[in-house]
Amino acid sequence: MKIGIVGAGMVGSAAAFAMVMRGIGSRIVLVDLDEKRARAEAEDIAHAVPFAHPVVVEAGDYVDLKEAEVVILAAGVSQKPGETRLQLLTRNRAVFQQVVGRVMEVAPKAILLVASNPVDIMGQITQQISGLPPGRVIGSGTILDTARFRWLLGRHLGIAPGSVHGYVLGEHGDSEVLAWSNVRVGSVELGSFAAQVGAAITADVRARIDEGVRRAAYTIIEGKGATWYGIGAGLARIVGAIEADENAVLSVSCVSDVLGVERVACSLPRVVGRAGVVAELMPELSAEEQSGLRASAALLKEAVEALG
Ligand code: LAC
Repeated sequence: MKIGIVGAGMVGSAAAFAMVMRGIGSRIVLVDLDEKRARAEAEDIAHAVPFAHPVVVEAGDYVDLKEAEVVILAAGVSQKPGETRLQLLTRNRAVFQQVVGRVMEVAPKAILLVASNPVDIMGQITQQISGLPPGRVIGSGTILDTARFRWLLGRHLGIAPGSVHGYVLGEHGDSEVLAWSNVRVGSVELGSFAAQVGAAITADVRARIDEGVRRAAYTIIEGKGATWYGIGAGLARIVGAIEADENAVLSVSCVSDVLGVERVACSLPRVVGRAGVVAELMPELSAEEQSGLRASAALLKEAVEALG
């Protein structure tokens, strides 16, 4: 499968590298205003191919995105220390108003996978500009937050993250909701499993993990200026589900009606296959979680409406 990536910065390049190492895609084309950067990233990543799987990795222009089946939109600016994702909206919206139309000209059949923040709103803007059906414009959403949640819980419990089944919902941002009430370890309810292994989920543990998920990006940005490996791997996971027509359940963002908030892009567990998002699941939530998810969706809806 041919995959395009617009934005050969750290996130776009990390996604390309993750796809090479996971054996996803047959051709990956990196496009960036900074052509020298795109060429350098493509060549550096191509040098990993001999250690991975036969894929062509190259830099190109928009015309080279022709026939791409997925195009990752990772162009724009990323958070500076202390900056929220929502504060990037004006600048990245201006970038997307240039980028999305050019992608649609050459790859009108592609599924658009949005990574630039604030990713939920950027995904809704992309869906509006492209006119594609909502399921063909996917935001990475909380796929990374869910991974952080599972990783921190797994560390606490001594369990592989892949055996911790739980989701972060809503905004990929400060209003996100960790759906504690329906976390399962294997097929066992979290509280019961934690008691069995002597790793109780006390109020302090819960607060530490919530903080660890919600503040992860801020902490990493303070230390190294940006995040890219986690989100790059998350993007590769989504593309892998599309390429393999996996119908995998992933917490990704796309425009839908959420708990009475109409036409808003935020994350729910959604089924991802070759056609993009093909179904969505509304998990059983506590009253507090439902209220938090509705508030998160409403916050995003207000932000989009404020754009006019
Ligand atoms: C983060 C960026 C991708 O959460 O928003 O690391």
